[in-house]
Amino acid sequence: MGVRYELTVVILMVLVHQSVQLRSTHPLHEVVDRINNHGGPYIGLVLAFPAEQVPLLNSGLFVPNSRNPFIQLSGRKFNIGKIKGVDVIYVLTGEQTVNAAITVQSLLQTFNIKGIVHYGIAGCTNTSMSVGDVGVPHSFAFTSSWKWLDFGSEETSEKELKFGAYNHPQTGENLLERIQFSPVQLFTNGKAMEEIFWFPVDAHWYNLATQLQRVKLQQCLNETACLPKEPKVVFGLRGSTANVFMSNLAFAKFLYEEFSISTADEESAAVVHASLSNGVPCVVFRGVSDVAGGEKLALAGLSSLAAINSFKVAAKFVELIGRKKATF
Ligand SMILES: *[C@@H]1O[C@H](CO)[C@@H](O)[C@H](O)[C@H]1NC(C)=O
Ligand SMILES: *[C@@H]1O[C@H](CO)[C@@H](O)[C@H](O)[C@H]1NC(C)=O
Repeated sequence: MGVRYELTVVILMVLVHQSVQLRSTHPLHEVVDRINNHGGPYIGLVLAFPAEQVPLLNSGLFVPNSRNPFIQLSGRKFNIGKIKGVDVIYVLTGEQTVNAAITVQSLLQTFNIKGIVHYGIAGCTNTSMSVGDVGVPHSFAFTSSWKWLDFGSEETSEKELKFGAYNHPQTGENLLERIQFSPVQLFTNGKAMEEIFWFPVDAHWYNLATQLQRVKLQQCLNETACLPKEPKVVFGLRGSTANVFMSNLAFAKFLYEEFSISTADEESAAVVHASLSNGVPCVVFRGVSDVAGGEKLALAGLSSLAAINSFKVAAKFVELIGRKKATF
């Protein structure tokens, strides 16, 4: 009885695994089957918007599949091909968390994906980092998940931002009162729903990424436009994601001081969240395009180095995973 039960479970698992593709009546069912059977498992390379695609296209590293170079699903173009001989499907999600999550879910449910590599640009809240640096956070928080409290509500021990503390020129009280940062629900198979604040990237992929500490990053756009210092890859960070284009020095300082957050973007936590929900490894590389309240004017023309350098590190990581084939 026990053996038969286990056998049934194994058979069901195999069936489920094979059917993680489009329904049989979907017009692209056969194409997707072919892509999954003739290549892969693929690395899902995820980026948010066209400026982040520019370095990928300029690098010439992506070689499209000759038979099925791309297919469109949920309005996104899934590009099938190879980077340095490694099977890759890359896709632009569109900006902000909902677009990122929809696209990663679609990618993971349709194709045979062994993991997600996410790269792009970010604002920086850590004054020890500069434009062109690439941050590799080990975890991300959704920093626009709030409880907004009413005026005069009781003190708690949660992490809170008091608007009155930012009154200018003098601090005081304020009818907007304060916001309390809240965890987000995470659903995964075989586990009860959890509420977590920090969404971790995959520990194994993160450790592999630390081998890329010395990747040579680009310092100059042309002969005259150069960063004052050689840009660097920075590990050990915490990142933040919100549906907010954050360019406010006071809030940047708050994120750094309260949460030790170094980067601010609009997709990463959602990409990590979708990967965790599906039990697929994920790693994130975010290039600094501006430092909130700092360097903005002086280095404005150099911010495209953020996308260039984050792609450089992501491409090296894809290559690294390709070399480690045996362990996956
Ligand atoms: C800020 O960035 C520097 C690298 O420039 C890093 O060493 C430091 O750990 C970062 N701070 C935090 C709190 O992560
Ligand atoms: C170099 O790049 C900067 C920033 O994009 C630009 O303003 C400048 O005109 C460029 N110089 C040359 C010589 O191409």
